[in-house]
Amino acid sequence: MKFFIDTANLAQIQEAYDLGVLDGVTTNPSLMAKEGIKGVENQHKHYIDICRLVNGDVSAEVIATDYEGMIREGEELATLNEHIVVKVPCIADGIKAIKYFTSKGIRTNCTLVFSTGQALLAAKAGATYVSPFVGRLDDTCSDGVNLVAHIVGMYRTYHFKTQVLAASIRHTQHIIQCAEAGADVVTCPLDAIKGLLNHPLTDAGLAKFIADYKKING
Ligand code: E4P
Repeated sequence: MKFFIDTANLAQIQEAYDLGVLDGVTTNPSLMAKEGIKGVENQHKHYIDICRLVNGDVSAEVIATDYEGMIREGEELATLNEHIVVKVPCIADGIKAIKYFTSKGIRTNCTLVFSTGQALLAAKAGATYVSPFVGRLDDTCSDGVNLVAHIVGMYRTYHFKTQVLAASIRHTQHIIQCAEAGADVVTCPLDAIKGLLNHPLTDAGLAKFIADYKKING
């Protein structure tokens, strides 16, 4: 399973990279706005900066919602760096755009996926990744992890190559549940990744080992 970090914050990306477990980055327009990156030129520069930090896929989302606009933006984004994956919303023009990008060898991440039907269309269009939004589904009293499991099962049945990228991860338990459901990738906030390390028995055990060592060695 690959670990992506879900942020446009360079310091957080660096911290996750330094941990040695980072395989890529996902961003979206809200995350870019959070970093205060204004204007297309600055945003492109920021994507390049992110690509320089990680040796892995970096999802950059199109803003256009019409086919021609998505193609124009996506082709431009794809030229920024070989690691850029064009993120496209799961709407009719988005599916058409993914089909086009696939035919041109441009990799895609079909985003805002909330059903197996949407995931089926994304795979048929040749998306590299499909992003079911786990946390946002949970927010509506649905079961986000269950959706991940269903998509994984469907893709395995039909041998689709599209990778299931569990997104909208809110906490450490989501990461574990998505891993158990067979997600190929989980994109997470930094705190959720670091949360995987937490266990009181590890802390207590380490404290005891150090204390016993000091008893003998001073
Ligand atoms: C990443 O690809 C998604 O855009 C992101 O995980 C959405 O997360 P949110 O629901 O916390 O905004």
